[in-house]
Amino acid sequence: MKTEILDIKNSGSEKAIERAACILKNGGIVAVPTETVYGLAASAFSDEAIKKVFAAKGRPQDNPLIVHISDVKMLDKVAVNIPKKALELADEFWPGPCTLVLDKNEDICDSVSAGLSTVAVRLPDNEITREVIRASGLPLAAPSANVSGYPSPVSAGHVIHDLNEKIDAVLCGEDCKVGVESTVISLVTNPPRLLRPGAVTVEQLRKILPDLVVDDAVLSELRDTEKAASPGMKYKHYSPKTQVVLVEADSRKFAEYVNTKENSVAVCFSGDSGIEIEKIVYGNGFDEATLAKNIFNVLRQLDTHNYETAYIHAPSKKGIGLAVYNRLIRAAAFKVIKL
Ligand code: TXA
Ligand code: MG
Repeated sequence: MKTEILDIKNSGSEKAIERAACILKNGGIVAVPTETVYGLAASAFSDEAIKKVFAAKGRPQDNPLIVHISDVKMLDKVAVNIPKKALELADEFWPGPCTLVLDKNEDICDSVSAGLSTVAVRLPDNEITREVIRASGLPLAAPSANVSGYPSPVSAGHVIHDLNEKIDAVLCGEDCKVGVESTVISLVTNPPRLLRPGAVTVEQLRKILPDLVVDDAVLSELRDTEKAASPGMKYKHYSPKTQVVLVEADSRKFAEYVNTKENSVAVCFSGDSGIEIEKIVYGNGFDEATLAKNIFNVLRQLDTHNYETAYIHAPSKKGIGLAVYNRLIRAAAFKVIKL
């Protein structure tokens, strides 16, 4: 299949939005920009379209998708039994990187939620994509627009690298300003549960959900017998082909450790000194938001070289740092060295 490149800069945003909406209304699949990562969108009402999304990504069938809406008044089309807390969270964090797991409206396809009775929903902070949702009149199910297991796409170029000729179109917008996927919170459990950390932090959420608990899967590997509250958290994920090892250490110990390694690269902070092997800086270690913005780009960059192993200096777990740490332990398939 030929993938249409819908370029907002060259063809104008109105024409590109109209074309994207037309493809989606006809059951096609289109990659769209959001503030977190690019998503691969399809009508949440069309089982056939959702199947195409799973096929294009090579996504495991038991991993449900997030549904995207353009306005809070669209929430009723996606979810039922909406608790007051959901509306408070929406009021505070939407549009933005905050996904709520609620009881599913039966109009939403079972394939979207991988057979669960719940549905994940968010209102993205990207006006172009909200316009596509409005123009199509459809809530759009959209997982990250990458090949399943590979680092998420934070630019249109990443989407084209992974999915060219596998999807109907790419709506090329700006690079993603957040750089890691949304925070996912379940409101169908009591107490409410953080399933995936993101830019909306635990501290921010506890102002509205004081009893919020952090799911074990956020910081550790699930044992085989454990059932995943969020199925996406059980897979090796976000992994480049280059082997990744996460190193928790201060600057001096990090440098001493990586300097003993051959055919390797250090992915480090701008303030790290004494590193004698090749290095890639992913930001200032005290600026977790920049680390988040750069991390998927850097993971992808690793595969353009012939490194055997990348040793990544672990970020702090403060604020959005928790989200970066959560993605990196999975990119490293839980190979974490503590010095
Ligand atoms: O920022 C984002 O959330 C991006 C952009 C495109 O919006 N989307 C994204 O989708 O990251 P995806 O499919 O890569 O991740 C969805 C996550 C998975 O971990 C999945 O298991 C979880 O949300 N999820 C979806 N529906 C769920 C449900 N009903 N219950 C629990 N977890 C759910
Ligand atoms: Mg994903």
